[in-house]
Amino acid sequence: MNVTEKKPVRIGLVGAGFMGKCHANAFRAVNGLFDLPVAPQLELLADMDETSAASAASTLGFRRSTGDWRMLVADPDIDIVAITAPNKLHEPIAVAAAQAGKAVYCEKPLSTTLASAARMRDAVAQAGVVNLVGFNFLCNPMVRMARELVQAGEIGEVTSFRGRHAENYMARAEAPHSFRTDPEGGGALADIGSHILSMARYMVGPIVSVCGSTSTIYPERPVFEGSDKTAAVRVDDHAHALLWFQGGQLGSVEANWAATGRTMDLSFEVTGTQGAISFSQERMNELLVYRSDAASGQQGFTRIEAGPTHVPYDRFCPAPGHHLGFNDLKIIEVAGLLRAYATDGHAFPDFAEAYAVQATVAAIHASSQQLNRMVVAS
Ligand SMILES: NC(=O)c1ccc[n+]([C@@H]2O[C@H](COP(=O)([O-])OP(=O)(O)OC[C@H]3O[C@@H](n4cnc5c(N)ncnc54)[C@H](O)[C@@H]3O)[C@@H](O)[C@H]2O)c1
Repeated sequence: MNVTEKKPVRIGLVGAGFMGKCHANAFRAVNGLFDLPVAPQLELLADMDETSAASAASTLGFRRSTGDWRMLVADPDIDIVAITAPNKLHEPIAVAAAQAGKAVYCEKPLSTTLASAARMRDAVAQAGVVNLVGFNFLCNPMVRMARELVQAGEIGEVTSFRGRHAENYMARAEAPHSFRTDPEGGGALADIGSHILSMARYMVGPIVSVCGSTSTIYPERPVFEGSDKTAAVRVDDHAHALLWFQGGQLGSVEANWAATGRTMDLSFEVTGTQGAISFSQERMNELLVYRSDAASGQQGFTRIEAGPTHVPYDRFCPAPGHHLGFNDLKIIEVAGLLRAYATDGHAFPDFAEAYAVQATVAAIHASSQQLNRMVVAS
């Protein structure tokens, strides 16, 4: 179908930072790559104030701009509201957008508290609008293949999951406060732990109980980059947790934003009775698969490289080994959103799924408060 014949879907984006640019790029690119019955139009961008919104709208290709997100969600010419603003704004924007009958595409973590996440989940359900949360790492074709292998029983019965999301963006003592260190809903576990917990659920299934501990490495941080003034840090820099899955398996995760030397180590290993699967986002175009039935002397992890057979890699490139990147995952995510919008309305991972992730984050925090440490005998 020619793009001019497609039904236009008008996008309103709130927040023009790191993720705002990434969303805008995905909405611009998606129609050149995927066959969709609708064509997104970058209609309205909201940011902190009129000036920053106008500047970002012009750079990112939006027709209009506003310094007030309330105008955006009330605008009758907006069909989908994309939320890439700080976490504290997710609930008011998402609830207002849902009540105005608009589809809502929100960044992770869903919100700051579990109660707030529940209100968001309920608001989209009550309004019956399409909803999706930006756990984009699930969109990687190699991750999807890993899940298919697990579900097809290729590694036997799953016995354990070991996951980690480690980055170094808060590894410097001088790394300043931001919305990510807001005592309400901030911290490494909420910020990046939510990604690896969503991955754990995707690969193995629901998590029914946890036991965890969180820790703050730097008790003070500058109030802004380069400032001499510091303020207390009241969130975790890293967290470690044991997980028990509904299927009875035991697992573990680590979330660490002060992981010196690590830039994007969202990694996991799923172990089964007949094999194992290993992945790291730092090498996102590879999957390592071990099969116990390989001939004696030929056992070991086999490296599978991404290529056009790993759908939808083929949409981006006909040649193997040329590699997808982080922004491509967002394009795949946006294609799923628009497909849901144009068809049955069901996108994944939706607000209900993101609520389940947030409940796991909350349970790990609660466990950390009550942890009964056993002293090691000397
Ligand atoms: N899915 C991912 O991989 C991923 C990666 C990074 C961030 N995120 C999430 O995306 C969201 C934004 O993070 P970021 O890194 O882009 O932050 P950022 O600081 O780079 O951008 C935030 C933007 O929101 C704007 N903003 C702040 N207050 C506003 C208001 N009242 N009205 C309108 N706009 C306002 C800021 O001016 C800025 O442009 C967060 O929820 C974060 O957790 C997701």
